[in-house]
Amino acid sequence: MADFVTLAKTGDIPDGQGRVFEANGRQIAVFHLKGEYYALDNICAHRGGPLGEGSLSATAVTCPWHGWTYDVTTGECTFNPNIRIQTFPVRVEGENLQVAL
Ligand code: FES
Repeated sequence: MADFVTLAKTGDIPDGQGRVFEANGRQIAVFHLKGEYYALDNICAHRGGPLGEGSLSATAVTCPWHGWTYDVTTGECTFNPNIRIQTFPVRVEGENLQVAL
């Protein structure tokens, strides 16, 4: 069973944006969409670009390096469902944003 780790305060991520955090030796991208939070591995499946620095449009994040896109709610690549980024459960405890790693 994965443990929840506090990565940030909920106010640290503006609505419609992502941020990158380090925890347990991994880089985790966390996105904020209208009060909901989604956590993904930060590493793009193409060539390792930083997904947490990508731009968000609705639920799709675009990798800043070469433009692959992923649904942040599922981790699925939007043009190839066989490619999937690992996702992590997120919860809000008070003002703490916690991710199960
Ligand atoms: S590294 Fe993400 S699209 Fe190439």
